[in-house]
Amino acid sequence: MTKKLTFPPSFVWGAATAAYQIEGAVNEDGRGESVWDRFSHTPGKTHNGETGDVTCDHYHRWEDDIKLMQKLGLKAYRFSIAWARILPQGRGEVNQAGIDFYSNLVDGLLAAGITPWVTLFHWDLPQALQDEGGFAVRSTAEAFVEYTEVITKALGDRVKHWITHNEPSVYTLVGHWYGEHAPGLTDPATAIRVSHHLLLSHAWAMAVIRRNVPDAQAGITLNMNWTVPASNSRADRELQRMVDGQWVRWFIDPLYGRGYPADIVQDYTGSGFLPDGLAAFVLPGDMAQIPAPTDFLGINFYNRGIMRDENAPDNDPPLLVPQPKTPENWTEMGWENYADGLHFLLCRIAFEYHPTQIYITENGASYSTGPDADGKVRDDLRQRYLRTHLAAGHRAIQAGVPFAGYFQWSLMDNFEWSFGTSQRFGMIWTDYETQKRTIKESGHWYADVIRANGLAE
Ligand code: FCB
Repeated sequence: MTKKLTFPPSFVWGAATAAYQIEGAVNEDGRGESVWDRFSHTPGKTHNGETGDVTCDHYHRWEDDIKLMQKLGLKAYRFSIAWARILPQGRGEVNQAGIDFYSNLVDGLLAAGITPWVTLFHWDLPQALQDEGGFAVRSTAEAFVEYTEVITKALGDRVKHWITHNEPSVYTLVGHWYGEHAPGLTDPATAIRVSHHLLLSHAWAMAVIRRNVPDAQAGITLNMNWTVPASNSRADRELQRMVDGQWVRWFIDPLYGRGYPADIVQDYTGSGFLPDGLAAFVLPGDMAQIPAPTDFLGINFYNRGIMRDENAPDNDPPLLVPQPKTPENWTEMGWENYADGLHFLLCRIAFEYHPTQIYITENGASYSTGPDADGKVRDDLRQRYLRTHLAAGHRAIQAGVPFAGYFQWSLMDNFEWSFGTSQRFGMIWTDYETQKRTIKESGHWYADVIRANGLAE
């Protein structure tokens, strides 16, 4: 027997995108260069050398895209603003054409009955600021405040939902430590400084949002996997501690007033990544500012990581092993589809950190399923992923988690960073040759979920 899972009446149903992934029009209307322009145009950095120069051409097609959102019945749409459209040099001169683009988009959304949720920083730092050191220097955090000031003044009369940063862990670690994202650095010491300035600039921006948009709901979005040790061995537990510490606790602990996790500070110090100590860039007063009160925590959830230290001699046999490698269990990103992880993670974060509300600001699956001869895109695997995750989220609500809304990643197939167009996360198929969009079957199914405010388990 199937059970109907009904969500609270105020539950927010949405979809998400990011500026560099969908807009294109990188040289139009006075937009400045961003680190992602520079990175994607550097040979060898992205799949087949692809760039976001055109991608979904949303900059010119936003009106049609809003019509598609209406067809899906979206209540909310999360998008990010390209800082370099607003302040081409990162600070100083304001580009009115950039403001106009987002202002028109916001008006269009509101007219369509869709609530805009704006992310201020989804990784596309103006290159001019990177040339001065990027988020490794404090002056970039100050420039972020200036940018927040300009954009909240321009849109704050209509935009009431604000997210400061998207996934500071990914910008820090993948962009500055592993070098797989812009700006492409491989320097742990720099990465750690970047993380601090991101968190500090979040707090400073919160104050600006509060002042310019007194009725705003504002917060930050963090990326979190559900990680578990493969066995009870010391080595596997140690690996889980480290990975969770670097990716999750390093960011959420300071935001909730706990400071940087002592075990990770010790690891970083031992590895020589903090040559002059934290005090070289964590100035007096910073740690008291970072936990600025927020109205919600955004969480992006995709997968589980079973932590197995393959190098540990005589490790215990694993108690937990990854699921068999079937397409249902593993998406094309090579990410495990493990919906219970969402339930566990929501409970952990809600009961350990007590955010007022939690929104899943991204969740979704990469499957390249394309149109059949009749034009329909039968992406059953994506639908299964979404259904199981929504059911897991529903269980978390039953357990008392203040899980208040869900944004599917992504509205449409788009430029998936270093993977280019080779990974497709959309509920809408993008034909990059013609720019034709087709709502996939998962999108039609999501529209039914939104209409029913729930789903059958
Ligand atoms: C998240 C990013 C988003 C997209 C998804 C798949 O880490 O925030 O832009 O790339 O992953």
